[in-house]
This record gives sequence, C-alpha cells and structure tokens, in this order.
Amino acid sequence: MSAPLAAAPARRGIILAGGSGSRLFPLTLPFSKQLMPVYDKPMIYYPLSVLMLAGIREILVITTPHDRPLFERLLGDGSSYGIALSYATQDEPRGLADAYRIGADFVGTNPSCLILGDNLFYGAYLTDMLVNVSARTAGATIFGYHVVDPRSYGVVEIDGTGTKALSLEEKPEKPRSNLAIPGLYFYDGNAPAYAREITPSPRGEIEITDLNRRYLAEGTLHVEVLSRGTAWLDTGTHENLIEAADYIRAVQNRQGLKVACLEEIGLFRGWIDRETIAKNAKAYGKSSYGEYLRMIAAEGVR
Ligand code: G1P
Repeated sequence: MSAPLAAAPARRGIILAGGSGSRLFPLTLPFSKQLMPVYDKPMIYYPLSVLMLAGIREILVITTPHDRPLFERLLGDGSSYGIALSYATQDEPRGLADAYRIGADFVGTNPSCLILGDNLFYGAYLTDMLVNVSARTAGATIFGYHVVDPRSYGVVEIDGTGTKALSLEEKPEKPRSNLAIPGLYFYDGNAPAYAREITPSPRGEIEITDLNRRYLAEGTLHVEVLSRGTAWLDTGTHENLIEAADYIRAVQNRQGLKVACLEEIGLFRGWIDRETIAKNAKAYGKSSYGEYLRMIAAEGVR
C-alpha cells in the first residue's frame, strides 16, 4: 500500500446499502444483498475499504430498516477499524441521490463521497488516485470504466483530454461511449442542497445522474477514467456475485494478502495500532480472516 494522506478536508462517506436485491431472490429474501459473501467477507467490506483507503473516517451506512441491526452487529461503531460509523435507514429505494437527502444532516456542508454497497473496486494505484481525488475540494468527481455493454449503467462521454465530460446519460439505449459510471462519486459541500432540488425521473427515482448533470452544467464535474489494471465489479446478479468471489479468491490465494481487510487498512492509515488488532483477532477464531489479523498484528501492514 502507498499514499499517505495529505492534510485533506474532513470528507464524509456514505455507503448506500438499501434496496431489496430482488435479482438475487431467494438469497436476499431474509437479509440484504450487501451482507452476502464475496468469497470470505461480507460484500459491504469492499466498498467500506475503498472509503477508508480514500482517507475517509466518518461514514454513514444507509440500510433498509429491517437490515440495520444486522449491519450494526457486523460493523459496530467502526472503532475496531479506527473509523466512526453511523447508520440511517431508507424505507424504499428512491434512487441513489436520495442518499443525500437521508444523509443531509450527516454531511452538512462537508465534502463527501458516496459509494454503492454492492460495488467492488480493486487495483494498482487505486489508493493514490482516491487520495488525489479526495483532496479536490471544489466540484464533483465521477469515474469512467470501459465495459462491453454500458446500457445498464450511467454512461459518460468524454472529450479528447480524457478528463472532461461532454454528456451524461442514465441507462441509454444507444450509449455514446463504452464508459460506464461506477457507483463511486465525490462531491463538494453542495451535494445535499443540489439533491434536494432533483425531481424524480420517469422510473420514479432521484437519479444520481441528475446530480452529476448539475455539476456538469456548472463546469465543475471531473471525470477520471479508471485504468485497465483496475477491477470494478458489481454484484447484482448471481453471475456477477460468483465472478467477484472468484476474482477475490484468485488474487488473495496467489498473493497471500487479503483484499479489503478493514483492520489492515485502519493500521495502514494509522487509525488503530497492532495491539488493538491482536485483541480483536480473538473474536474471529480460526477463520482465515482471524489468521490474517494475527499475522498483521505480529508483522504490520503487508
Ligand atoms: C446505478 C446508477 C448508474 C450507475 C450504477 C453503478 O444504477 O443509476 O448510473 O452506473 O448504479 O452500479 P442502478 O443500480 O440504479 O441500476
């Protein structure tokens, strides 16, 4: 790992982990998709690790009302990882930008970052890029990721410089580029106020694309195209879920390093110490996660 933090402003993080996960029924009938396993960890560990790598410590987790106690049981107040977690609920999915209505008080006028609870990012230079993007205090940053078929995503068309958006479209039938917009968004302090002004789209949602369009219209929208060496996986279908698990398994087993070990990232950031990890490792028993924590406690960040 690299990328020490600059004296960054206190950016707040939001993980949106609501929704019914209906495409995964019956798996998700009893509990939330974002608690499903991606190989050896619950899915939400992965987006949470991304926020932590970006240097974000104050994080709001938005869940359905009935799943909230499960997330609280899993992650607690975040102190085992050196972060401060709080929780809020969303009764029904009303679109991604709704996270900024629910999280308005939490965010206040601070810069923030929204990540979807089912999006998984991994790759070289990702941490450096996240830290650099997070250091931008004005405007918004979205990402572009080359995919075969972007029709089920937000799509960004960029100019020749590769950093300026020309157009943004939500799930277009005829995409103007192959760049899908992943569920990771950085905003300045205006996001809650702008989100309040969005009217629901034809599909009845307060679209994140409309929030991003507002920044585009103001000329303050940055686009970062994720490099070829970056993995962006979403986990909405059974196929995606098993592909993500296979990916994590292959990387971890080859390197002997865990992806999204929250304690390791907390230690890397200097938010917790090795003694805390050693103490907490006991709760994980003989699991591979527990073994890994004991190794980190003994030898430090890998
Ligand atoms: C949402 C956004 C879309 C984005 C996608 C990323 O889609 O609306 O712009 O590309 O997340 O996962 P949805 O999950 O609502 O289909």
